[in-house]
Amino acid sequence: MAKHSKRSKVKSIPKAQLEGTGKLASLPTVGEEEAPQSGPLVISFRHLTKIYDAQPEKPALEDVTLDIHAGEFVFLVGHSGSGKTTFIRLLNREIVATRGTLKVAGEDLMNIKGWRIPYLRRNIGCVFQDFKLLPNRTVYENVAFALEVIGKSSTVVRKQAPEVLRLVGLEAKMDKMPDQLSGGEQQRVSIARAVVNRPPLLICDEPTGNLDPQTSLGIMRLLERINRTGTTIVVATHDREMVDNMRRRVIALENGHVVRDQDKGVYAFNA
Ligand SMILES: Nc1ncnc2c1ncn2[C@@H]1O[C@H](COP(=O)(O)OP(=O)(O)OP(=O)(O)O)[C@@H](O)[C@H]1O
Ligand SMILES: [Mg+2]
Repeated sequence: MAKHSKRSKVKSIPKAQLEGTGKLASLPTVGEEEAPQSGPLVISFRHLTKIYDAQPEKPALEDVTLDIHAGEFVFLVGHSGSGKTTFIRLLNREIVATRGTLKVAGEDLMNIKGWRIPYLRRNIGCVFQDFKLLPNRTVYENVAFALEVIGKSSTVVRKQAPEVLRLVGLEAKMDKMPDQLSGGEQQRVSIARAVVNRPPLLICDEPTGNLDPQTSLGIMRLLERINRTGTTIVVATHDREMVDNMRRRVIALENGHVVRDQDKGVYAFNA
């Protein structure tokens, strides 16, 4: 297959099948279009290569060129070691590319000044497989903390923290500690924390990796709901069922190369 296969259209499944089932607070939508392919760029890779020092012979990503526009929902799929986490970690400048160009949320990440990196990160919510919640803080405090560290006033915190916990369906569990919650609930808290500051971009690395299929579906519906508010979402995942169900853009990686980039895609053609 060509290195940079053209994004191909695949017949969409009926809209009714895509509807969420959760009873979450309603949010404004940005329209019926699911995958805007024009408009402002949120992510732009040009011939991007990442080589880790520990593995100089085998680039983790090689010559990646692609664009992600505002409002898109993108799955990043591929076998273990194909480069998904590397892709995600490049976006918030946790790691730096070896060569090429990478622009995220208006910042040139190859030339960004150190002092601007915290500002870049305010524009990017992050969700991980292992939730990364503060174990000694309540649900409410975990979410509030994300606002406090970026200097939001207590008025803003008291308004936005409960609001986002309502959005994820956890208003009744605000005072619980993380270890009193199920895995799915903990992931909802981590999503609430990631979006409480309303970042334009949400990046998720295996967000359903520790969850059963039913719970995973709820998490994906929640991400879909957040996407409908205009937030651009990139999800690295192994979750074949989810990707096949959701029919969003799929970028497939193999040994650090983009081998497929497909609108309304599936996890894999042959399996
Ligand atoms: N910190 C690191 N130092 C050296 N090599 C690394 C490092 N992180 C990842 N790699 C290598 O880079 C390649 C891509 O790894 P990456 O973690 O991006 O894959 P992945 O698709 O996320 O895999 P998984 O599905 O297992 O999470 C692999 O060959 C891996 O061994
Ligand atoms: Mg990974």
